Amino acid sequence: MKNSLTPGLKKKFDDLRKKNEDAAKGGGDSKIKQQHDKGKLTARERLELLLDPDSFEEQGRLVTHRGKDFDIEREVYPGDGVVTGYGTIGGRLVYVYAQDFTVFGGSLSETHAEKIVKLLDLAMKNGAPVIGLNDSGGARIQEGVVSLGGYADIFYRNTRASGVIPQLSLVMGPCAGGAVYSPAITDFIFMVERTSYMFVTGPQVVKTVTHEEVTSEELGGASTHSTKSGVAHFSAPNEAESIQQVKKLLSFIPQNCESLPPKVGYKPGDESRANLNTIVPENPNQPYDMREVVSELADQGDFFEVHRAYAENLIVGFCRIGGRSIGVVGNQPTSLAGVLDIHASIKGARFVRFCDSFNIPLLVLVDVPGFLPGTDQEWNGIITHGAKLLYAFSEATVPRITVITRKAYGGAYDVMNSKHIGADLNFAWPTAEIAVMGAKGAAEIIFRREITESSKPEEKLQEKITSYTEMFSNPYRAAERGFIDEVIIPDSTRSKLIKGFTMLENKVDKLPRKKHGNIPL
Ligand code: HXC
Repeated sequence: MKNSLTPGLKKKFDDLRKKNEDAAKGGGDSKIKQQHDKGKLTARERLELLLDPDSFEEQGRLVTHRGKDFDIEREVYPGDGVVTGYGTIGGRLVYVYAQDFTVFGGSLSETHAEKIVKLLDLAMKNGAPVIGLNDSGGARIQEGVVSLGGYADIFYRNTRASGVIPQLSLVMGPCAGGAVYSPAITDFIFMVERTSYMFVTGPQVVKTVTHEEVTSEELGGASTHSTKSGVAHFSAPNEAESIQQVKKLLSFIPQNCESLPPKVGYKPGDESRANLNTIVPENPNQPYDMREVVSELADQGDFFEVHRAYAENLIVGFCRIGGRSIGVVGNQPTSLAGVLDIHASIKGARFVRFCDSFNIPLLVLVDVPGFLPGTDQEWNGIITHGAKLLYAFSEATVPRITVITRKAYGGAYDVMNSKHIGADLNFAWPTAEIAVMGAKGAAEIIFRREITESSKPEEKLQEKITSYTEMFSNPYRAAERGFIDEVIIPDSTRSKLIKGFTMLENKVDKLPRKKHGNIPL
C-alpha cells in the first residue's frame, strides 16, 4: 500500500505531466508546421541537436507573460517563447536558451527576458559558456517599454559576462532592431544561410529613408554578414551544420577565463614537415596559401577557421599543436598580397582579444608587405583600426609565438606580434625579408639621385636593388639584434612550436594595475 498513489495525488501528478506536455508544444501543432515549412527547426528540436542526449534540464517551463493590453492576456503559452536551461556538450556544462518562434514569433516579453537574465546570472556564478539560439520578431509589441527594458537587462549582463565566460550566439531566424545587440556583444555569431537575417532597420524602413530597394537576405542574410560586414563569424547551409560548428568551436575553448582550454591526447612522433620547405615560392611576388602552412603545423592538419570569407587577407582560427588549443593569426598572400587593411585589422584584433581573454596561446604567421595605401583606407581610419591590432597584441599576456615566413615590412612588422610588443618566441625562415620596405621602393628613394644621374638608370636601379636585397631583405639583421630568436629551416617549425608552447605553458604576465585600457575603438 505504501507505494500506491491516492487518487488525489495521482491527479496532482497527472496535472503536472499535462502542464509539461502543453509547454513542450510551444505555440501548437499548426505553428510548428509553419516553422518546419520555412525549413526551420523548433527551439526544442534545436536543443536536442545541440546537447548530449538526456542532458537538458529546463528551467521556467511554466513561466507566462504578464501582458494586459490588446487582449494578449487571453493568449498565454507556458514558457513564453523561450526555452532555457542547462545541459552538456561532450560532457561539458553549458547554459542554453532557444527562442521559440511558434509563440508570438519568439518575441521578447518582460518574462521572456527574465528567463534569459536568470540563465546568464547562473552561468556567471558557475563559470560555464552560454549559447543563445535566436529566432525572434524582436520586442513583444504588445508590451512596449517593459520589453525594451528586458533587452537592456540582457545587454548589460552580456557585457558584464564578456571575457568571463564564452558567449556564443546562433541566429536561426529573424533578429532585428535592437535585438541584434545581444549577439553583437557576445563572442561569436553563427548564421544559417537563407533562413536567418540580422539588421538594425529592415528593408521597409531602408526604402523609406534611403529609397534603396533591398531584400532581407541582401540586407542582413548570412552571406552578407559573413562576407561584407563581418558581423557573422560562421555561416552554414543548414541548422544542423551550424550546430556542429558550435560544438567544434567549443572543443577549442575553456569553460571560463580562469580555466584552460581542453587538451587532447598527443603522442610525440616525427614532427618534421618537409612540405614546409617548398611552400614559399622563390619569387617574392608569387602568392601561396598560408592555410597550407597552418595545415602542416596543426595536429591532423585540422584548422578551424573563423571569419573565413571576411577580410581574406588575414586568416584567423583555431588548431591544436601538440594537443594544445592554439589561436592562429596569419597574413594571407593569396588575397591582396596579405596586406593589412581596416577590415583585417579589426578581424585580427577581435580574435586576439578573444584568445587572450580565454587563455588560448597565439601563433602568428607573418608575410605582410605593409598597410594598404590609399584615400579609402586613410579616410576610413586605417590609423585607428590598424592600432587596434597593435594594441590587442601588445596587451595579450598569453604565450605568443611568431614565425616570419617571408615579408615583414614597415609598421606591419611591428604590429604582427614582433618581439618588441611582447612576443615570447620569434622565428624566421631563411626566406624572410625583414625591412622598412621592399627593395625596389627602398632603392628608388634612397638612391634616387645616383639613379637619375647615371647614364644607365635602369642598370643602376637593378644594381641598387641587388645590394639592398643582399643587405636588408633577409632575416639576419633582425637575428643579429635578437629581434628574431632563431632562423630555422621550415621543416622544423612544428617541432619548434611544440617545444616552444610547452616551455611557455606556465607563463605569468600581468598588465599594470588599471581600471581598463582604452583600446582605440
Ligand atoms: C508580438 C509578434 C512579433 C512581435 C511577430 N509576432 N513579431 N508578436 N511582437 N514583435 C507574431 C505575429 O503577430 C504572428 O502571430 C507570429 O508572431 C508570426 O509572425 P509572422 O509575421 O506571421 O511571421 P513571418 O511572416 O515569418 O514574419 C516574421 C517577422 C514579422 C519578419 C519577424 O513577424 C515582423 O516583422 N514582426 C515584427 C518585427 C518588429 O517590428 N519587431 C519590433 C522591432 S523593434 P500570429 O498570431 O498572427 O501567428 C525591437 C526593438 C528592440 O525589437 C530594442 C532593443 C533595444
